[in-house]
Amino acid sequence: MNVVEIEDKYGIPFYDRQNLVVEKGKGSHVWDDKGGRYLDFTSGWGVTCLGHAHPVITNALCEQSKKLMQNPNSGFTYSPARALLLERLQQVLPVNLSRTFFTNSGAEANDAAIKLARKLSGKARVISTRGSFHGRTFNTLSVSGGEQNTRRYIPQLPQTQFVEFGDIREIEAAMNDNTAAVIVEPVQGEGGVRIPPAGYLGKVAQLCKENTVLLIVDEIQTGFCRTGRFFGLSHSDSPVEADIVTMGKGIAGGFPFAAFSVTDEVARKIEKGDHGGTYCGNPLGCAVASEVIRFLQENCIALRVLESGRKLLKGLQMLADEYPELVSDARGIGLLTALQMKEDGLVGQLSTACQQRGLLVTPTRNGVVRFIPDLLVETGDIEQALEILGDALSSIERPLAAASQAGIACG
Ligand SMILES: Cc1ncc(COP(=O)(O)O)c(C=O)c1O
Repeated sequence: MNVVEIEDKYGIPFYDRQNLVVEKGKGSHVWDDKGGRYLDFTSGWGVTCLGHAHPVITNALCEQSKKLMQNPNSGFTYSPARALLLERLQQVLPVNLSRTFFTNSGAEANDAAIKLARKLSGKARVISTRGSFHGRTFNTLSVSGGEQNTRRYIPQLPQTQFVEFGDIREIEAAMNDNTAAVIVEPVQGEGGVRIPPAGYLGKVAQLCKENTVLLIVDEIQTGFCRTGRFFGLSHSDSPVEADIVTMGKGIAGGFPFAAFSVTDEVARKIEKGDHGGTYCGNPLGCAVASEVIRFLQENCIALRVLESGRKLLKGLQMLADEYPELVSDARGIGLLTALQMKEDGLVGQLSTACQQRGLLVTPTRNGVVRFIPDLLVETGDIEQALEILGDALSSIERPLAAASQAGIACG
């Protein structure tokens, strides 16, 4: 059996698969099993922030794995790698956050945040936004998407209230004496790169403070320079003092790792045994994350992302103007960018047409195609991606135009 046959036979088919066997990667490119080269504008769902096989990451992995991969009794014992990461992370964290715990995935970080918010406040209600994504554990699933999204596992966490993303008045109306927390992304990534109105997050923070409700900001997709700032919350024009910030994806550039940081006030209320896990804060992940943060800081990657993001977005906007019958909007912040397609069906068509031409993109909910390359992507690769995208759009334009000319109803 070949790779596809084996995976299809023995794997659990949770995903719609792309017909692509990826063997290796370097920088912004990956190669398939037939030697075909692709520009990776998915970065593994926003993870490989330094590109594939970056020496900073591979060296950190090699060096630490030769020393120690898992502490005796895991988190019961101390680790130089963990201590170094705590210090480095502290340098880039929003100033009101002072303590951090490391987890294995973004969902686990959010799950812990929700768990802690409920325990520390003694309240049950969590307010989340429609179109959000916070993970696939029970807690996080319960606060993801919206009322319609998570029906397949019921009952879920009771007392979740969904409000419209970007609408401050809805959050205000939703808060009551039993509200433990609000969980929100600075920009909804999985929801289709939805950017809230300026000042939204600052107002949410203020509302939370006034009502003694904990604010959990989910920076799993937006953190680590993805949006052109170290954290997405710092785009807000008024200060955002979150009680808990969760992080993942880019934090270790591809090694499965995540974290949540809390204020002193939250930390003081945490008791031994409130959270934990076998691999939490393992030295291998810590060593890689330390190096990723050092690299991002020393090389001013946030500024580079702003510049590259501007180029990419400008190109996407030009394509949106050129193909108004297919694309209704181009939007983005830093290197978190998207095309809003006119119909859901066009997402798959465009993604496939791009793949056939050597560009990998991320089909996303709500009629969106996302472009989230690594943060070091070269200008030439952005130009090439836009060229491929233009060609891919032109390939799906003709049948639609022909159909409408012939008076055939589309979609
Ligand atoms: C904003 C956000 N939160 C949480 C998650 C879940 O992270 P993970 O897949 O690492 O569990 C994701 C994943 O896409 C995300 O984008």
